[in-house]
Amino acid sequence: MRKILVTGAAGFIGYHLARRLADQGHAVDLLDNHARGVRDAALSDLARRPNVRTIEADLTEPALAERLDTDYGLIVHLAAIIGVAQVRSRPYQVLTANVAMVQTALALARRQTDLGRFLFASTSEIYAGTLQAFGIPVPTPETTPLTAGDLSEPRTTYMLSKLYGEAMCRFSGVPFTIVRFHNVYGPRMGRSHVVPQLLEKAHRLPAGAALGVASAGHRRSFCYVDDAVEYLTRMAALPACAGEVFNIGTQEPELPIGAVARVILDAVGRDNPVEPLPDTPGSPNRRAPDMGKAIAATGYRSRIDLPDGVRRTYAWYRDHVFEAVEDCAL
Ligand SMILES: NC(=O)c1ccc[n+]([C@@H]2O[C@H](COP(=O)([O-])OP(=O)(O)OC[C@H]3O[C@@H](n4cnc5c(N)ncnc54)[C@H](O)[C@@H]3O)[C@@H](O)[C@H]2O)c1
Repeated sequence: MRKILVTGAAGFIGYHLARRLADQGHAVDLLDNHARGVRDAALSDLARRPNVRTIEADLTEPALAERLDTDYGLIVHLAAIIGVAQVRSRPYQVLTANVAMVQTALALARRQTDLGRFLFASTSEIYAGTLQAFGIPVPTPETTPLTAGDLSEPRTTYMLSKLYGEAMCRFSGVPFTIVRFHNVYGPRMGRSHVVPQLLEKAHRLPAGAALGVASAGHRRSFCYVDDAVEYLTRMAALPACAGEVFNIGTQEPELPIGAVARVILDAVGRDNPVEPLPDTPGSPNRRAPDMGKAIAATGYRSRIDLPDGVRRTYAWYRDHVFEAVEDCAL
């Protein structure tokens, strides 16, 4: 049993990871300021477990590092300002707050007496600048050279905050592992992502109407959150993963978004047609991680296929969001 701090634990990946760690019997502290993470029944149930504590705090405050415990064996830093809407409306805060959060989390990590690992959540967006300037191999390996994107574009702030965060981890002196998530999906992920958005459209679609799908020909691979959590927990425990950077996602299948829409319609139990809409500006026509390094290091390969993951996700969204009696905070 280890004592573990998960930052951003009220959010999507943080909640699922914290629940898995609590199931394994670890003592888990859930830190969040609820800027985005929802206070729902699932989080309250988790917080009531005897081996779980909640810490409501703002990680952008440097003094927080002095107030928290110093006996964590593992710190997983997931807290960040994310999402296209936030990045477009508050690019300056995305840069400054995300970097401040990494700084506080690393200052805390340095005060620990016996820290095994600091896990930092980076992103597939980190490859976006190279993609725009030079093109990238797909599936994309971790060794791909990184390029800063167009600095006049608000969206670049998010990848820059992660690029800077990765470099901070490397020179912090703490034992770190960097993970670059690619298209993780599942229950409790909010509404601003292609999977819940298409699920909601399909759920509310009138009989016979077409499901409109933007960038229908663009290819993506998707990783169900339980698989992402499995990679994370293995990487945190394996000594060979210290000092390394890994993609976390699912390499195959890489499907056109139009075909993903079909899987979504099947899960919802509809046979409406799919209607391709214009491509979203800036959306890459392919994105998939090269998972060779992560699979070799962890001995794990994603197990939950897209139809299964989409069915599980739909069941949750139908019951907790689309047909919820009270308005869900998602
Ligand atoms: N979901 C994905 O597919 C994906 C892809 C790439 C990268 N990531 C990265 O993984 C991490 C987790 O992503 P997620 O999808 O769970 O995001 P999320 O938005 O659901 O979770 C982030 C959490 O951080 C919290 N937070 C924000 N500011 C805070 C602050 N100042 N102090 C304390 N807590 C704060 C939010 O309230 C939220 O609960 C993020 O760092 C994100 O950049 C996720």
